[in-house]
Amino acid sequence: MHIGIIGTGYVGLVTGACFAEFGLFVTCLDKDEKKIKSLKKGKVPFYEPGLEELVQRNLKEGRLTFTTDVAEAVDSSLAIFIAVGTPPRGDGSADLKYIEDVAKEIAANLNGYKIIVTKSTVPVGTGDRIREIVSRNLKELVHFDIVSNPEFLREGSAIEDFMRPNRVIIGVDPESSSGQQAIAIMKDLYKPLYLIETPFVITNIKTAELIKYASNSFLATKISFINEIANLCEKVGADVHMVAKGMGLDMRIGSKFLHPGPGYGGSCLPKDTKALLKMAEEQNVELSVVDAVVRANEKQKEIMAKKIKDAMGVLKEKTIAILGLSFKPNTDDIRDAPSLYLIRRLLTEKAKIRVYDPVVRSLDLIAKSNELIANDSKLRALSSKLITYCKDPYEAAKGAHALVIMTEWNQFRNLELERLRKLLKEPYFFDFRNIYEPKRLKENGFKYFCVGRQ
Ligand code: UDX
Repeated sequence: MHIGIIGTGYVGLVTGACFAEFGLFVTCLDKDEKKIKSLKKGKVPFYEPGLEELVQRNLKEGRLTFTTDVAEAVDSSLAIFIAVGTPPRGDGSADLKYIEDVAKEIAANLNGYKIIVTKSTVPVGTGDRIREIVSRNLKELVHFDIVSNPEFLREGSAIEDFMRPNRVIIGVDPESSSGQQAIAIMKDLYKPLYLIETPFVITNIKTAELIKYASNSFLATKISFINEIANLCEKVGADVHMVAKGMGLDMRIGSKFLHPGPGYGGSCLPKDTKALLKMAEEQNVELSVVDAVVRANEKQKEIMAKKIKDAMGVLKEKTIAILGLSFKPNTDDIRDAPSLYLIRRLLTEKAKIRVYDPVVRSLDLIAKSNELIANDSKLRALSSKLITYCKDPYEAAKGAHALVIMTEWNQFRNLELERLRKLLKEPYFFDFRNIYEPKRLKENGFKYFCVGRQ
């Protein structure tokens, strides 16, 4: 079977490569010619463990091809997956511009029955909107079905998540005469997952669309919840890890996503929670829990900055070493990363910053992705003057007054403490991912601060 994937970003490329690995013939399309040119050579433009090998192998074996030509991606494909971005607008709602453009292009090339599947996270009702646009722009009268098939891929373990998902959600129009056929095609595409007994949830399109937002918002809720409990733990002298463990053993609660930290980030949770709030607002429905989750997360980032300031006093002329920029380990993604918030706050305090991250290596990237810095000429000027990029954690620590761990990369878990202590001018150690034992750090002469533990 042939399928087409429109958009070779994170979701599109992982989906395309994994489906090719399942034995399907996959054509991936992107309008970015440079990207397609390098993908044809097997070069993946971002960091995701295992993806480059998967792309290269399937390229070589002829199951994966790349193109910028829509007709090529649509012509022989029975299913066309839309995996283009839905960036947030200023008001938090998802911008559907790219989805709509793609819908028009697919329509113009539709030459027989096909299913059009949305992988992108899209607001409830987008499936209907795509149907309308495609119908209006058809060149010849052909039948098609719209399917919603949201992705639940975690950056850093996306391939594993695709190959061994907890569930596959398939939303189809119950009114469609060919709805059963669309479901059958989708099940066929995911056939290898039947062998591992993956649950399939078959429902209508709107429900499928909402499942994605509700899932991500619930994950965000767990994080904000444990972060607030962590803040209380600090005041009352409790240990948040034990609280999380005690809670998580209750099967109704579960132990995952109860790790406290400097606030969630990334391309999904911040964007999806805000888009869900916007959707609810448009329907006059109050989502007070999600609203509180978003506010708690913003506050959590500020609480981390305040922790540093409260401990160290005036930060002007002080140098802070930051270890980790990406929003979590095993990715080079810094979208909405708490590290960017902290960098901005430190810049406004006129502190000097030394950074190191194992994969995020460009300062330019920091300035660009941190809109708050990019749009503020003063901060932009300060960032080029005050931020130094270092080649390893020890170089970052050299001459700094404090060390801050912002991402729990494995290589930060076993730093040579004595060496670090000697390199630092002052012994402040802010472990915002709780990867060290407080007792051990104190024994090594550090002034140690973490989240929700004494
Ligand atoms: C998330 C969802 O998990 C995935 O299903 C969805 O489709 C896309 O968004 P991702 O953004 O890659 O995936 O990251 P995830 O591993 O879920 O972590 C999200 C954020 O929460 C990170 O900033 C992480 O550091 C933080 N987090 C996670 C916590 O602070 N505590 C936890 O216990 C778990």
